[in-house]
Order: sequence, then structure tokens, then C-alpha cells
Amino acid sequence: MEVLRVQTIAHQSKETPIPSMFVRAETEQPGTTTVHGVKLEVPIIDFSNPDKEILQNEIMEASKEWGMFQIVNHEIPNDVIKKLQSVGREFFELPQEEKEVIAKPVGSNSIEGYGTNLQKEMNGKKGWVDHLFHIIWPPSSVNYRVWPNKPASYREVNEEYGKYLRGVTDKLFKSLSIGLGLEEHELKEAAGGDNMIYLLKINYYPPCPSPDLVLGVPPHTDMSHVTILVPNEVQGLQASRDGQWYDVKYVPNALVIHIGDQMEILSNGKYKAVYHRTTVNKDETRMSWPVFIEPQGEFEVGPHPKLINKDNPPKFKTKKYKDYAYCKLNKIPQ
Ligand code: SIN
Ligand code: FE2
Repeated sequence: MEVLRVQTIAHQSKETPIPSMFVRAETEQPGTTTVHGVKLEVPIIDFSNPDKEILQNEIMEASKEWGMFQIVNHEIPNDVIKKLQSVGREFFELPQEEKEVIAKPVGSNSIEGYGTNLQKEMNGKKGWVDHLFHIIWPPSSVNYRVWPNKPASYREVNEEYGKYLRGVTDKLFKSLSIGLGLEEHELKEAAGGDNMIYLLKINYYPPCPSPDLVLGVPPHTDMSHVTILVPNEVQGLQASRDGQWYDVKYVPNALVIHIGDQMEILSNGKYKAVYHRTTVNKDETRMSWPVFIEPQGEFEVGPHPKLINKDNPPKFKTKKYKDYAYCKLNKIPQ
């Protein structure tokens, strides 16, 4: 069965109105539910700050108060990010049949591969986005069959990005650990250690003739521990603050960090998973490259034992990540 991609619909919609399955209820439409004229200035943190204590403090505060921050002067060279973006874009610009080679088979449960969310959301609507998912680390979890083999440099470029990303992740986990009053190494250990999975997603949001009526990705928190994301320069990420939706300011060369559900659980609620969504643009293609840093499916996550005592009972259950994911995806209470 052939799946109709949003990229194809976008192409056709230049002449015809967009299909109604993309048109949100008024209470969800970004045109009416976005606070216009203000950009949310989520904390921007200088990752090269030689004063470790200040840096750790900024990361802790941002994770408690916002669940989202942007890091600048990280150690990933700009040209590594530029290459990541250009090979990803080249893949999505291939003729449709060449992308379908690595498409997820219809009806399969696997999340890796090229795809479009087939399942409509609860309200029967669909997001204006296609995607590609594949694991980039650890090597034992990587399946190169779902990686694009065009352009030819795709693998090398993604592996290089993955290498730098591990450095950023380690540094982030150390600061988050200190912020909880733990030893530097303790949080990463409780999160899955060196077996943690780095799952890359590429979001491809084609131009949309009615951007005020549709969403790219509907409101959600990420399931991961943390998500490290690079967007292209087209505005589209929004975060919820005091019940209102705001555009998150695009900062060139920054990495956007989301605190995800597993980190909220590990920290027993001290760090907050950020509620976010995306909008799309009338004339330009928006793309983003989130990497979800998450435990292996069999790994159990719960509030860190050192944070629990009689005054601080656990606020979350301890469970295998795959069970958490199953409940979340099927909207079963945790
Ligand atoms: C997402 O949250 O899944 C996408 C975020 C983005 O495109 O910026
Ligand atoms: Fe997300």
C-alpha cells in the first residue's frame, strides 16, 4: 500500500485547499493560540564557561524552571552541523521512490525508517510533517539498513555528529547530576550509562498554504531523558509557558535542549519535561534534527534512590522504558 506523504500533499496543495484532516480545531490553531509579537527567551547557556559552578547552576535552574534551554559555544563545530543539515535535506529532496526504499513498512511497529504518522491523533487530525528515524549510537543498536545511502556521505556525516554529541551529553549529565546533589557520574549511571540510545529524528515540514490552521508536531513532552536538537533557520518551535504558546527564539548555531519525561522521573520531579509543539511556514521548508537520548527498552527508570526519603516519597513509578513508552503511545495512564 502506498502512503501519501505530506511532502506530496504540500506539492499538490499549491493549487487546491489543504485536506481537512490537517485543519485543527480552533482551540488548537496556532494562528489563534499563539501569543504573537513576543519570542520566548528560554535561557541561553554558554557551554564553554570556565566557571563550572556557574554553568552547573544555570543548567539546573533552566531544567527546573523551563525544561528547555539553548546552549551556545558547545564543542560541536559549526561545519559538522551544517553538513548534518545538508545531507538530511538532500535525502528529503530525493525523488519520492528513492526515499520509499527505507520507508517503515505499513503496519510495522518499528519506529526506525522514513515515514509519516499514519495514525491520526486522538482528535482525528494529522501533523504537517514527514520524518526519518534511525539510531546513531551505540553501535550494537545501529541498523544501517534504515539509514539513507544517498547522499554518499550521509553515514560519515551522521557518525561524526554522533561522536560530538556524546561529549555534549556527558557534560550535560554531569551538570544535571550535580544539580540534584548527586556525584557527577551517578545520574548517567541511573539513566542507562553507556548503553543509552541516541535516536535521531529528522522532521521535514514542507511549506503550507495555511500555516495558521495546522500544526507540525502537536503538543507533547518528549519521552527521552533529554533531547538535543538542531533546527534550520525557519521559525517553528513553540513552548508553553503559563498556559500560553510562544515561539522559541531561534538562536543561530545553538543546540536546543529539552528535558524529557525520563529525566523528570529520575529527578523525582525536580527537573520538568517541557511541553512543546511546532508550527510550519507558508513559503519555506522547516527542518529539525532532534536526537532523543533514552534508555534501552529493558532498562528500568524511576526516581533516583538517593533522592528518596521519608520527606521525599517517590512521585513516579519505576518501570521499564519500553513499558513507559507503550503506555504513553497508547494513552494509558502511567
Ligand atoms: C519535536 O518536538 O518533535 C520537534 C521539534 C522541532 O521540530 O523543533
Ligand atoms: Fe518533541
